[in-house]
Amino acid sequence: MNAQSSVRFSHYRFDDLSLVDLYDILKIRSLVFNHQQRLIDISDGKCIEIDGKDVFCTHIVGRLQDNQIVATARLFDRQSPLKLGRFAVDPDFQKHGFGTQLLDYLDSIIDSKPIEMDAQSYLIDWYSKFGWSVSGPEFIECGIKHVRMIKNL
Ligand SMILES: CC(C)(COP(=O)(O)OP(=O)(O)OC[C@H]1O[C@@H](n2cnc3c(N)ncnc32)[C@H](O)[C@@H]1OP(=O)(O)O)[C@@H](O)C(=O)NCCC(=O)NCCS
Repeated sequence: MNAQSSVRFSHYRFDDLSLVDLYDILKIRSLVFNHQQRLIDISDGKCIEIDGKDVFCTHIVGRLQDNQIVATARLFDRQSPLKLGRFAVDPDFQKHGFGTQLLDYLDSIIDSKPIEMDAQSYLIDWYSKFGWSVSGPEFIECGIKHVRMIKNL
C-alpha cells in the first residue's frame, strides 16, 4: 500500500459530523489514549476522554479510500490563540506519514493564525520540525510529561 498518498483530509464542526464519523473518532482516541498510552489517571480531571468539549471544536479527520478514519485531531477554533488537541493516528497506521499530513492540513486551514497545544514532551523535536516552539515549563498531565507549544505567535 502506498500509505503516504492514500489519505484525504477534511474537517467538520461537531454538529456536522455523522454518527459513524463521531464513533470512529472516539474509537481511535480510546485505542490510542486509553489503551496504547494508558492515560487513565483521572485525578486531575483532564484525562477523561469524553470530556464534553468536543461540541466546541472543529474536528479534522484523515480517511483511507474506503472512508475508514485513521487520523484525527480537534481544534478549538473559536478562540485566540486557537488550540489543537486529541491528535491521534490509529495504532495500526502510525509511522506512515499520516500525522505529518494532518499537521500540513492543519496549516492549510488555520491561515497562519496563532495556535497552541499541550504537547506530549516526547514529541517536542518532531513538532519543532513543523514550526512549533516550546513556550513554558514541562508539566505532568494524565501522568505523563507535557509542554505548552505554540506556532504563529
Ligand atoms: C504522534 C502521532 C499523532 C504521529 O502520527 P504518525 O502518523 O505516527 O506520524 P508520522 O508517521 O507522520 O511521523 C512520525 C514518525 O514516523 C516517521 N515516518 C513517517 N513515515 C514513515 C514511514 N513510511 N515509515 C517509517 N517511518 C515513517 C516520521 O519520519 C516520523 O519520525 P521522526 O520523528 O523521525 O520524524 C501518532 O504517532 C500517535 O497517535 N501517537 C500516540 C498519541 C500521541 O502521542 N498524540 C500526540 C499527543 S501531543
